[in-house]
Amino acid sequence: MFQSIRGTFDVLPEGHDIAGRSVPGSPSWRHVEATVREVMERFGMEEIRTPMMEPAELVARGVGQATDIVQKEMFLIERGGETYVLRPEVTAPVMRAFLEHHLAQRGGTQRLYYIGPCFRAERPQKGRYRQFHQFGVELIGSAEPVADVEAIANLMSVAEAFDLTNLRLRLNTIGDTEDRPRYREALRDYFEPFKNDLTETSRQRLETNPLRILDTKTEHERVMLAEAPRLPDFVSDDARAHHEAVTGFLDDLGIAYDSDPFLVRGLDYYTRTAFELESDVLGAQSALGGGGRYDGLAQAVGGGEPVPAVGYAAGVERFLLALAAQDYAFPEAPHPDAFLITIGDEAKRWAVTAAHNLRKAGLRVEMDLLDRSIGKQFKEADREKAHVAVIVGPDDLAEGEAQMKHLPSGEQQAVPLKDLEARIRMRLRRRSGGTAST
Ligand code: HAM
Repeated sequence: MFQSIRGTFDVLPEGHDIAGRSVPGSPSWRHVEATVREVMERFGMEEIRTPMMEPAELVARGVGQATDIVQKEMFLIERGGETYVLRPEVTAPVMRAFLEHHLAQRGGTQRLYYIGPCFRAERPQKGRYRQFHQFGVELIGSAEPVADVEAIANLMSVAEAFDLTNLRLRLNTIGDTEDRPRYREALRDYFEPFKNDLTETSRQRLETNPLRILDTKTEHERVMLAEAPRLPDFVSDDARAHHEAVTGFLDDLGIAYDSDPFLVRGLDYYTRTAFELESDVLGAQSALGGGGRYDGLAQAVGGGEPVPAVGYAAGVERFLLALAAQDYAFPEAPHPDAFLITIGDEAKRWAVTAAHNLRKAGLRVEMDLLDRSIGKQFKEADREKAHVAVIVGPDDLAEGEAQMKHLPSGEQQAVPLKDLEARIRMRLRRRSGGTAST
């Protein structure tokens, strides 16, 4: 017996538990995806789909050599002398596509969104998987603070579309690339005297990527941080003005945020705005989504000119977890309009064609595929919560009629076979108070 790989899971028609973790059924996933798409359309975002595999070099250069993702979390594939990576995120791939297809020539800001799988070889735990799903947006071509605000407002609108509560939006400015070396030095100078008190990870980070120390979850290191130099004090006047414009717009929109001078992100491409949306109900992996501005990415992955851009990505699994914790009422999967129940070979033969024609006419129709007894067929119709059962035996065929039973009420009547579609639709109209399905 094979099993799904550690940190991955199957999405089944109904929700299920694996290793104490519950995976919602496919209707819940579709509902989340449909809601995300609906919000994206309201913002005029256009969908982009990029491959699951990318050149490893693109991710190394885009996400950054010193990041956890590149250092230890890439699923690499060697093939024909090339090294590919299962995409750990979608921003660098979208920027690659933008440059490769000269999307700038379409004019204006490219407002792109995506939903799809990503892969990171992290230690699996609640809310953290090795194959997970992100939705996100990338606004490419605008250096204006309104673009940052549009990305943040988009994320907040998705959360709002699900009535998510207990959220916290953390916001920071990490300045431009040129601002970073001075800050890095200040941070090194600050921590150097306490070096021996730092955890092994932070000691390493002090050498390779001191900003990541700000991300520490260790209590005594968080205490040390209280007095540490703060990034926003090191950013240029331009970056500060940009940040003030962003916070001004957020205030106008009534979007509450916590300014967090220690918020840094796990990917190296960010400049200026950085943000994360957290939920109280998620436990250790509390980020629903995060993003920021990345004005240097285009050049880092080989674009000649700088291309200003801003975006975010959010975890579909994290949304599903937060929704489950809030007892969100997911819509039920649609039930069949009609279930055809047959007695005998002639009737079965009739039903194959009848089901096909009714489906072509737009109705949801099922029939028995196992040559089962009439009792078992009824049971299945009930289990599937079909609206009506259409029962046909040899006598009915001879009469040119069927027995149509409205399953919720048990009412039954004979209907002419030639009028079957119309009669099912009449019954459905009574259910929905006017409109039949399709
Ligand atoms: P990120 O913070 O690495 O950013 O990931 C964004 C979101 O993806 C996280 O907040 C989390 O909800 C989800 N996520 C990340 N890793 C996992 C995992 N192993 N299991 C489950 N969910 C996970 C980015 O990926 C950037 N590309 C975001 C961005 C877009 N910045 C600008 N544009």
